Amino acid sequence: MQPPNIVVIIADDLGWNDVSFHGADEIPTPNIDALAYNGVILNRHYVLPICTPSRTAFLTGKYPIRTGMQGYPLQGAEPRGILLNNILLPEYLQKLGYATHLVGKWHVGYHTRNYGPTHRGFDTFAGYYNGYIQYFNHTLYESEQLGYDLHRIIGDDHKIEYRYDYMTDLITDEAENIISSHNPAKPLYLQVAHLAAHSSDAEEEMEVRNWKETNATLGYIEDINRRKYASVVATLDESVGRVIDALKKTDMLNNSIIVFISDNGAQTEGFLQNYGSNYPLRGLKFSLFEGGIRGAACIYSPLIDRPSRVSNQLFHITDWLPTLYSAAGGNSSDLKQLDGFDQWSAIKSAKNSKRSSILINIDEKENSEAALIGHYKLVTDTSEYQKYYNYSGNNALYPKYNVTTILASPAASAIASISISTLNASKIMQLRKEATIICKNFTDFSNCTNRSCLFDLNKDPCETTDLFSKHPKDVKRLNMFIDRYKSVLMNQTNAPVDPAGFPRNFNDTWMPWLPDDYQSISILR
Ligand SMILES: *[C@@H]1O[C@H](CO)[C@@H](O)[C@H](O)[C@H]1NC(C)=O
Ligand SMILES: *[C@@H]1O[C@H](CO)[C@@H](O)[C@H](O)[C@H]1NC(C)=O
Ligand SMILES: *[C@@H]1O[C@H](CO)[C@@H](O)[C@H](O)[C@H]1NC(C)=O
Ligand SMILES: *[C@@H]1O[C@H](CO)[C@@H](O)[C@H](O)[C@H]1NC(C)=O
Ligand SMILES: *[C@@H]1O[C@H](CO)[C@@H](O)[C@H](O)[C@H]1NC(C)=O
Ligand SMILES: *[C@@H]1O[C@H](CO)[C@@H](O)[C@H](O)[C@H]1NC(C)=O
Ligand SMILES: *[C@@H]1O[C@H](CO)[C@@H](O)[C@H](O)[C@H]1NC(C)=O
Ligand SMILES: *[C@@H]1O[C@H](CO)[C@@H](O)[C@H](O)[C@H]1NC(C)=O
Ligand SMILES: *[C@@H]1O[C@H](CO)[C@@H](O)[C@H](O)[C@H]1NC(C)=O
Ligand SMILES: *[C@@H]1O[C@H](CO)[C@@H](O)[C@H](O)[C@H]1NC(C)=O
Ligand SMILES: *[C@@H]1O[C@H](CO)[C@@H](O)[C@H](O)[C@H]1NC(C)=O
Ligand SMILES: *[C@@H]1O[C@H](CO)[C@@H](O)[C@H](O)[C@H]1NC(C)=O
Repeated sequence: MQPPNIVVIIADDLGWNDVSFHGADEIPTPNIDALAYNGVILNRHYVLPICTPSRTAFLTGKYPIRTGMQGYPLQGAEPRGILLNNILLPEYLQKLGYATHLVGKWHVGYHTRNYGPTHRGFDTFAGYYNGYIQYFNHTLYESEQLGYDLHRIIGDDHKIEYRYDYMTDLITDEAENIISSHNPAKPLYLQVAHLAAHSSDAEEEMEVRNWKETNATLGYIEDINRRKYASVVATLDESVGRVIDALKKTDMLNNSIIVFISDNGAQTEGFLQNYGSNYPLRGLKFSLFEGGIRGAACIYSPLIDRPSRVSNQLFHITDWLPTLYSAAGGNSSDLKQLDGFDQWSAIKSAKNSKRSSILINIDEKENSEAALIGHYKLVTDTSEYQKYYNYSGNNALYPKYNVTTILASPAASAIASISISTLNASKIMQLRKEATIICKNFTDFSNCTNRSCLFDLNKDPCETTDLFSKHPKDVKRLNMFIDRYKSVLMNQTNAPVDPAGFPRNFNDTWMPWLPDDYQSISILR
């Protein structure tokens, strides 16, 4: 049989509590929920706390400290990227015969053409290079520079798309076109990297597709910023349904794997805040507390033998490279020097996870670090984002969770058409309950500002109660674990922005600006 088609859908800055399968009624996400309940809910899916490191980990299968990408997100016109001696997931899949496409966000380097997606394993790229763009006019304003950032690239054939339309729809149209024109002789790898639910600019924060529609469907959310956010997430959910439906229409769904993940927690406050919610987890994007790094995630595939369950086994974003390589028929023992584990049999057959620990990150500039062994987590977080945001997303005025809407969603209908689904209302409610984290005691929590705290995540998933002085042995074990990684850490390659890369030099467009053979100082060093 042909290797499975793989579609990875990545949401941007989507909070733990912003999918309705985690227990909140406020933002209904029936399509994402249908994937989750028909597949496996990955309830301990760890990511990096910010975008560039998280995507680097996904694409390389390595902790970003190995590639100097562990720090602040890449800025427009910053001359750095994932170093070229790393082989990325789509390159591995190309070698296994896959057609590979990236739609949406890249954000791991484009200072020379060689760092761009079509030189790193993607046959085609339709999307943006930087961290985010405006939802309608596709511009990024950064370093006091405004530029378009929407490209269509095949190999070195590079076209700029100057157009005005809603980015989530554009991404969805593009994904549908790729699926419907896909040559079935090859397996497909499609990475759908959404702009949603990133805020689109420091002042505007969020742009909805249609205000009338937003008020009609989500008018029960009083806070207008939260309503905007909910609308953006609802449009993302609609997109997920359309992509699954496109796979069904082309008879591809019955041999597909669909992964849905968020790159990091929501930016609930501060610069570029999006009004997402990581409730009841502590912290947010940029922080090493669970709110920043425990990402909403699920996987659906008819190839999963034991579907409709919640997995509480440890999973790290670096695991996707070997896991998908293995699912694609590759032998993951061929992959060398990865931090990721092949978790395909853990997902497919509910086998035990091979992973028992995670290096969450080391940021040697910020003096932040965290790791997890079993259920103990040691965290030293110097960010200001350590609080709880007690926005539960539940309120008697919100519509009640409606199982009929889930079962009638385009995603659920498509799935039902290719499998004998055993889902019913009580199973859904049971899974949802299992996937929901309940914590109390937010008013009284340990202060971890500029010191290390130890938490027992089994008993205390919300990190309220520091056990540092109670469990010195676990602290020591975790410190030794972190120190081992410090010895292989590559210093951050972050570089000052280069005005030569400003859009004004390229018809107001963010473009690669350095010669193909350019070597950055950090590589020569
Ligand atoms: C794009 O939209 C933003 C926000 O509405 C605005 O500031 C910017 O000037 C627009 N850019 C262009 C080129 O229209
Ligand atoms: C949507 O609701 C907001 C807040 O109630 C209001 O200011 C706005 O005018 C409404 N927009 C439309 C198109 O109805
Ligand atoms: C998927 O469905 C199509 C159409 O019914 C069929 O031709 C194909 O063999 C099926 N593939 C698998 C893997 O079941
Ligand atoms: C995968 O590779 C390892 C090491 O080279 C080998 O021992 C194993 O048999 C291979 N597995 C399969 C399924 O080919
Ligand atoms: C948390 O909840 C309390 C009590 O309901 C409320 O007073 C407070 O404003 C809330 N804090 C946040 C950050 O939402
Ligand atoms: C649930 O959703 C279905 C279809 O979407 C609708 O017909 C039904 O009225 C809803 N039930 C409630 C209680 O809102
Ligand atoms: C719902 O499905 C579960 C298995 O998934 C089954 O045990 C249960 O009897 C079903 N309940 C109803 C009311 O059909
Ligand atoms: C936490 O500790 C820091 C450093 O000791 C202190 O500055 C800060 O005020 C404390 N925060 C709270 C909420 O007590
Ligand atoms: C915590 O550490 C950071 C970075 O080292 C520093 O900027 C900040 O002032 C410290 N905060 C306190 C309360 O000591
Ligand atoms: C709440 O957290 C505080 C601070 O860590 C701790 O001392 C207290 O025992 C906790 N209370 C409960 C009921 O868990
Ligand atoms: C890495 O950064 C540290 C400071 O964080 C510095 O002491 C060290 O010299 C740097 N190493 C290299 C190889 O640049
Ligand atoms: C320059 O950008 C404008 C949009 O601002 C576009 O209409 C025009 O076609 C571009 N020119 C070239 C030569 O690409």
